[in-house]
Amino acid sequence: MANKTTKKTTEPTKTAANGFLAGTPWVYTETVKEHFLNPRNFLMGDESKYQYDAKGIVGNPICGDQMLMFIQVEDGEDPKTKKPAKIIKDVKWKTYGCASAIASTSALSELAKGRTLDDALKISAEEIEEYLGGLPKHKFHCSVLGHEALAAAIANYKKK
Ligand code: FES
Repeated sequence: MANKTTKKTTEPTKTAANGFLAGTPWVYTETVKEHFLNPRNFLMGDESKYQYDAKGIVGNPICGDQMLMFIQVEDGEDPKTKKPAKIIKDVKWKTYGCASAIASTSALSELAKGRTLDDALKISAEEIEEYLGGLPKHKFHCSVLGHEALAAAIANYKKK
């Protein structure tokens, strides 16, 4: 019979290779989990079937993931200035990203709808984090992926 030397552990081991674990809880908030499992405005299937006005694509240099964002824009009124403005009517997105990227972009897509293009650009990582009830700090780079793709889509729209 083989000698069993496997040690049971209940806590992740802190090593130089995974030192980011130190002091970081391995938890997502219920809101993050809910948005990850039921992402809002996620584009299922073929993007050619979605009538978008502009799209943006960005890659995350840290992990190599990508985000594709589509927007529909309509003429409307800036709710703050009451002047005519371009309003984001709808948002759709796709990603290879992780749970944090999916939940963050789901939140972003909800926050962006109905805003002017310029106002949507002001949605901050902190606003997304607050919407989700928090994110692990070492996943911050994931939470900005959607915003960068939205900014790229808006820039694409303004170029037209
Ligand atoms: Fe790539 Fe989160 S690890 S987006």
